[in-house]
Amino acid sequence: MVIDTDPGVDDALALLLAATAPELEVPAVLTVGGNVPLAQATGNARRILPVAWGGGALPALHVGRAGGTETAEQVHGSDGLGWATTLLRPDGEPRYPPTTPLSPLPAVEALAALARRHPGEITLITLGPLTNVAAAARLDPEGSRQLRAIVVMGGAFRETGNVSPLAEFNIYVDPEAAQTVCEAGVPLEWISLEVTHHCLLLSQHVNDLPDTPRAHFVRDIVGISFAFHENVYGARACFPHDAVAVARVIWPELFRSEPRRVDVETASPLCLGQTVADFRPPVLHRKTPPNGTVCVDWEPEEFLTHFLARLP
Ligand code: RIB
Ligand code: CA
Repeated sequence: MVIDTDPGVDDALALLLAATAPELEVPAVLTVGGNVPLAQATGNARRILPVAWGGGALPALHVGRAGGTETAEQVHGSDGLGWATTLLRPDGEPRYPPTTPLSPLPAVEALAALARRHPGEITLITLGPLTNVAAAARLDPEGSRQLRAIVVMGGAFRETGNVSPLAEFNIYVDPEAAQTVCEAGVPLEWISLEVTHHCLLLSQHVNDLPDTPRAHFVRDIVGISFAFHENVYGARACFPHDAVAVARVIWPELFRSEPRRVDVETASPLCLGQTVADFRPPVLHRKTPPNGTVCVDWEPEEFLTHFLARLP
């Protein structure tokens, strides 16, 4: 498993889930600009990994590309972690210092090299804009096609968008990259907003977590996301979008997906970043064969039970 991330509060929750999942090996984490600019996202990844992986060996951390100009600081805070980066320990030191070392190998080259070195074995989970993935597909098309699959947290097919009426944030930030990935020849397993909008992490869930360093971290980062959600939807909660994408790999039995062709709108100012899935009967697909799957049903309550059990 390789995780490409723009942390981001829900990215942090996803990394907590991935870190302790016995079902997964995570040899590498890649950073991409998205929720916050690349430098901040990378600093946040350097802070999150030691908390997520505890005392264990950390994944290699590779710095990626800038993504785009659109950010989501209103959801994640100006630091991308609900201002947890400003918290101090009693001795005055930062509670969550950016201590994870950075690999000298950039994310794009690292992804292409890992795919080529482990043909058919690596599933990439993308939690942010697809800028790194598109760059790797351009750098080494044949090597990138050795990825087993790409689980994409992104898109909105028959659900409204979040960053615009039709577009989901990760795709909207870099729609050209998303379309490049749609044409890269790697099966895409979409976890879109119609999936993730069916699951809410409530403040009560977080308050009820036991007294562990990971649970303290969760409580320290979610406040801004809860406040944003309360302002928009009237409840102190947040969508754990990215954790659902990781869950797609840990507990595939909770998800039902269909083979579909997906493309991305890259030209229309009104519909920029819209993800279009061909839901017509397969016999009409002769010009647009599926390039992956779209999740059309899942078990959000079962996911939440598993997720809350593993979070602390
Ligand atoms: O639209 C939700 C997605 O965009 C999540 O991955 C969130 O972290 C942001 O990156
Ligand atoms: Ca994200």
